[in-house]
Amino acid sequence: MSATNSRIPVAIAGTGSYLPKRVMTNKDLESIVDTTDEWITSRTGIKSRHIAAEGENTSDLATEAAKNALENAGIEAADIDLIIVGTITPDTLTPATACYVQHNIGAVKALAFDVSAACSGFLYAMKVAQDMIAAGTYKNALIIGAEKLSAFTNWSDRNTCVLFGDGAGAAILTASKEGQGRILATELGTNGSQTSILNIPGGGSACPTTIANADQKLASLAMQGREVFKHAVNVMKRSAEAVIEEAGLSPENIQQVIPHQANLRIIDAIADRLTIPNDKVFVNLHKYGNTSAAAVAIALDEAHREKKFERGDNIVLVGFGAGLTWAAVAIEW
Ligand code: ACO
Repeated sequence: MSATNSRIPVAIAGTGSYLPKRVMTNKDLESIVDTTDEWITSRTGIKSRHIAAEGENTSDLATEAAKNALENAGIEAADIDLIIVGTITPDTLTPATACYVQHNIGAVKALAFDVSAACSGFLYAMKVAQDMIAAGTYKNALIIGAEKLSAFTNWSDRNTCVLFGDGAGAAILTASKEGQGRILATELGTNGSQTSILNIPGGGSACPTTIANADQKLASLAMQGREVFKHAVNVMKRSAEAVIEEAGLSPENIQQVIPHQANLRIIDAIADRLTIPNDKVFVNLHKYGNTSAAAVAIALDEAHREKKFERGDNIVLVGFGAGLTWAAVAIEW
């Protein structure tokens, strides 16, 4: 038996998500920066986004999504042995956001840590959890993508503030049981030569926030939009194709593609290049904007609850983000 064949197959046993209550529409943004609903809609597809309340932290959003996923999977928090949170907006630089979640849900025996891979964070977390379950190290994993991007947004920069939103999505991974599906193929990648085109330049050890630089709002997302756009289309297409091929699938037998929700034009370009019809590509960015690591996780949960796919169907998750990072996963549900 090859090393690959001896690995335990891993299934997604349940999903969940949570969006903070407050909705900010494009119209609302018109009174904050020099923009229009028409510009935002035509360039991005975004109509509104959810914004966390004062004092509502990334871990709070993650906790609600986690509870939702546990209920959906029918698993108790006490039975979770691994929690991984993908986030670039942690509550604190340390401890990890996953530690707060562990305490909040009472997953007392779980190992908990974060991964920082921007919009690919949820899929990076999925791969780490999959490999740990496949190796027999852990049985039940809770993976979460959670962001409070509103806390790292320059609300006077129209180039970026119209794009992002807050939210969280979660999934429970377990060893696949009889009759359950499994993760078929995964492809992750990083291109560290492009760190400068998409980043949060300040607030880390390279550029701490000081009294002298505080008014420059360096601890907020900065991006060269057109450059990011080009890379996004290329890497998402390539990585989706890689997992489709490795899983032995073809566009015709994929029921749903769930891409990162950054820009409708990026999603349309990828669907076109993969020759997947638009009705098989899940889109919810009009409601939530770009929620970075949470985006694929929230979309997976919504698509699941809306029954866009059922047991035995093949789905493909694909994302990209700062780093640059990218990730794709093919799953038999
Ligand atoms: N309202 C009105 N005008 C605007 C706005 C706005 N909110 N923002 C920019 N503009 C203006 C610009 O100033 C520019 O004006 P100019 O021509 O006079 O200079 C004009 O609109 C066009 O700007 P472009 O940057 O060329 O617009 P583009 O069509 O490329 O769209 C966008 C910009 C939406 C950012 C697009 O490039 C994009 O989606 N890029 C990818 C972003 C992305 O996917 N990020 C994901 C990762 S995020 C993460 O990892 C956390």
